[in-house]
Amino acid sequence: MSDDSRPSLSGSRTAAVIPAAGRGVRLGPGAPKALRALNGTPMLIHAVRAMAASRAVSLVVVVAPPDGAAEVKTLLDAHALPERTDFLVVPGGDSRQESVKYGLDALPPGIDIVLVHDAARPLVPVDTVDAVIEAVREGAPAVVPALPLADTVKEVEPAAVAGAPEPVVATPERARLRAVQTPQGFDRATLVRAHETVTDNVTDDASMVEQLGLRVVVVPGHEEAFKVTRPLDLVLAEAVLARRRLNDGF
Ligand code: C5P
Repeated sequence: MSDDSRPSLSGSRTAAVIPAAGRGVRLGPGAPKALRALNGTPMLIHAVRAMAASRAVSLVVVVAPPDGAAEVKTLLDAHALPERTDFLVVPGGDSRQESVKYGLDALPPGIDIVLVHDAARPLVPVDTVDAVIEAVREGAPAVVPALPLADTVKEVEPAAVAGAPEPVVATPERARLRAVQTPQGFDRATLVRAHETVTDNVTDDASMVEQLGLRVVVVPGHEEAFKVTRPLDLVLAEAVLARRRLNDGF
């Protein structure tokens, strides 16, 4: 889609919070995951640029590893980012949830829509970001991008010992399942209330809003918004970047 045909998303101020404080142990030993390079540029910088690519996003808050905030600030200063977007770096916490909370605490007044985007999803296209913001602007308190599943999913009774056979408990109907991505978008007051109210351990922010009994809606996600988790994902991410460069060249 060309710049001009994107929704204008005017009239609201949107910030993106990027939790980037995880170690990313599943990726193998080395630097914190967000600081690993993809085609020579740290994953976090790709993720920040993906948020700043939306003309609606006026502020990006990066939640850095607790002992790495200065390093992340230096990194942001060293990479070209759009002039229209402001940046803040705050130290993260022990869990993703806590890290997001610290990011929310740093938001200035005047922001009314908040995106929460994993640094581990560096390649989400701007059209997906804009679609999430647009759905919040149209009145949904919480919006998640998601894709249908290719695999059938089984619920199991987890084994105490890794690798031991696990009894299957149920097979949810695949057609009703969606794999959830980020950025997830929220009415700011709703997300702040969810973080103040819900203390259960959760793996995404939208489930906290679900626990408040509020409506959460899904919009189409994108295959390039996949999460870089395992070493093979790094190979895939670099292949996507190479394809983009090739397409941009023509
Ligand atoms: O571990 P997982 O892949 O689910 O982490 C998702 C995102 O949350 C990553 O971007 C990671 O850096 C971030 N995170 C964080 N603070 C933590 C743990 C994870 O910001 N304590």
